[in-house]
Amino acid sequence: MTKKKDIVKLLLQGREVRPCKERGFGKAWANIAVCKYWGKRNEELNIPVTSSLSISLNGHGTETTVTPCSGNDEVSLAGRPIAPASQFGRGVAGFLNMFRPDANTFYRVETTNTIATAAGLASSASGFAALAMAVNDLYDWKLSGRELSIFARLGSGSACRSIFDGFVEWNAGASADGMDSFAEPLSVEWPDLRIGLVRVSTVPKTVSSRTAMKRTRRTSSLYEAWPVKVAHDMMLLKDAIGTGNFELFGQVAESNALAMHATMIGAWPPVLYWLPESVAVMRDIWRARDEGLRVYFTMDAGPNLKLLFLAEDEDAVKKYFPGVDVVTPFVKP
Ligand code: PMV
Repeated sequence: MTKKKDIVKLLLQGREVRPCKERGFGKAWANIAVCKYWGKRNEELNIPVTSSLSISLNGHGTETTVTPCSGNDEVSLAGRPIAPASQFGRGVAGFLNMFRPDANTFYRVETTNTIATAAGLASSASGFAALAMAVNDLYDWKLSGRELSIFARLGSGSACRSIFDGFVEWNAGASADGMDSFAEPLSVEWPDLRIGLVRVSTVPKTVSSRTAMKRTRRTSSLYEAWPVKVAHDMMLLKDAIGTGNFELFGQVAESNALAMHATMIGAWPPVLYWLPESVAVMRDIWRARDEGLRVYFTMDAGPNLKLLFLAEDEDAVKKYFPGVDVVTPFVKP
């Protein structure tokens, strides 16, 4: 079976793992998928069953520095040390192991999330993208965007999309080693697009997306319909983005998220990330829409909702959802 290390070797093509500077720096934004990635055809390499489409959240993400050090890896988040046995600590160590030149090379990884209040967004996507960029900087590998995207994907699937700004498409690819499974930016902007974060709970999830995807793929009879739905939704979303058709965009994004959740509810044991409050917010959104407000939502592997709306409706959205945090994906905050 091809291992992550083998892929990194392929990516590096003889480049050296020797620091060119004291420390490397990387910065990447979180991203929200409007056509979701759910299910891997290769679990080791995070190669997806389907393509997906996301929006990077300009200004909201992660900054990371990587410095070679001695003794042990040292990982910190916002200045606080992270335990090596924690999920975060193990994730970072696993990433570093993919290219660590020998058993005596260690790294200090200092990470800060630039997502001020939006706790629901601090995802692994911007984290692994920033880490991949920082390592590329430290070793001066000069990897292309495509290569960086594959590198970040080995940390966490959705991280491959956080390498780029704006609308980003992750091509599922067809090759066994995933060298054709990388993200690319779409050359379209939508400056008036707004994303509203409605936090229902910040309690960590009990089932990781990795476990949930695997279980869904293996046990949910509804999963068969998922790739068909994704292919159709991708087409509609690109059309909606190209023509600025917001209703179509919102409708397809919401329907895609609900269909993803339906596949996991159909798994055994079932995976349900929603809380009663999540459903209450959905009903509020549907009521607001019945009353004429153009607002839609998407949801990931957690109970929080992300509203999709246009700048002109921001005041009205804030009236319906007073606690909402508004992100401008195409305009720097
Ligand atoms: O990349 P992961 O393992 O964090 O999975 C992300 C899965 C979703 O957020 C639910 C969907 C997506 O496309 O981002």
